[in-house]
Amino acid sequence: MIEFEGVSKTYPDGTTAIEHLDLVVPSGSLTVFVGPSGCGKTTSMRMINRMVEPTTGRILVDGEDIAAVPTVSLRQSMGYVIQGAGLFPHRTALDNAATTLRLTGMSKAEARERARAALRLVRLRPELDDRFPSQLSGGQQQRVGVARALAADPPILLMDEPFSAVDPVVRAELQAELLRLRTTLSQTIVFVTHDIDEALLLGDRIAVFGPGGTLHQYAEPQTILERPADSFVAQMVGRDRGFRSLGFHADDLPVHPLGERDAQGSVTAPSPGGMVPESHTTDEPWRLQLDDEGGPVAWLRGESRIPAGDGHIPGAGLRSALDAVLASPADAAVVVEEGRAVGWLDRNTVLRALAAPADRS
Ligand SMILES: Nc1ncnc2c1ncn2[C@@H]1O[C@H](COP(=O)(O)OP(=O)(O)O)[C@@H](O)[C@H]1O
Ligand SMILES: [Mg+2]
Repeated sequence: MIEFEGVSKTYPDGTTAIEHLDLVVPSGSLTVFVGPSGCGKTTSMRMINRMVEPTTGRILVDGEDIAAVPTVSLRQSMGYVIQGAGLFPHRTALDNAATTLRLTGMSKAEARERARAALRLVRLRPELDDRFPSQLSGGQQQRVGVARALAADPPILLMDEPFSAVDPVVRAELQAELLRLRTTLSQTIVFVTHDIDEALLLGDRIAVFGPGGTLHQYAEPQTILERPADSFVAQMVGRDRGFRSLGFHADDLPVHPLGERDAQGSVTAPSPGGMVPESHTTDEPWRLQLDDEGGPVAWLRGESRIPAGDGHIPGAGLRSALDAVLASPADAAVVVEEGRAVGWLDRNTVLRALAAPADRS
């Protein structure tokens, strides 16, 4: 848990970046700080790892005032990811990912081993480990940046506009990746963005900041959409935003037919078309096992059997479609109507829709 208690920050030149902030970030949550440029988001985040010291007030982590915690040990407990990844240009992806571990005094061999595991966690292909940042795409660099922050397995992850410098499709892919990581990791994440769509997609809780470093609303995404606290927040989210980006949106997407059932009652999963995800390998396809009524049971491939879950129910919105894609080892959201699988949405279609929510009103 991270607590801001009456925190203000005025820089030496007289600029007030944050004005009396009271806010609690619950443990294990993904809390988003959102607002226009210059409203104090980065300042607030940097006060958590003491890169910036508050002028008044205090910040507690798990009940302890961080002013009393040595900055070295404080920062070791917090991963930090920034826009453009901030990688060392003359170090390979692997050595970049190992950087923070090396700072803790870990041996090179052990640091590399753990860095390698972190790179696999963010689904960077192993053959890219030895490349330098200039030899990686923007999205791949960003994955390395996230791996570096995760390598030491810190309880807190601070992410400052981490996906702002990549193109919309790659950005949607990285957003989906972060949501997927959250199903297995328990970190408390503070995520800064100026993009309200990104905030609504990723956040369990959203803090909306405005000019002068004031907090306008701190609530769950649904509340922000349905009951904006004031006209500033209402303007940020837009009048029909809830309908557009989280509501019926996914219903416009093309549903691919299921195909023929085989003798075991299963159907072959679609192969991801177009953009190939980092993890995609060309081995045999996953098969979706159906029960007698046509309901999804499990994904099958070789010895692997993964429960199929509830799939995506039409009308449940884009977030539900994304959750179904993330839950599927085949990167396909099974569309389920009245308990029956009727088709699927492929991963790339869902990611592209996420990347361009405003186009599809
Ligand atoms: N080191 C600094 N010295 C003086 N003013 C600063 C400094 N860093 C940020 N500011 C000012 O504080 C305000 C908030 O900045 P920042 O926290 O970076 O906002 P955001 O991340 O929301 O864009 C801005 O007016 C910015 O110009
Ligand atoms: Mg900023």
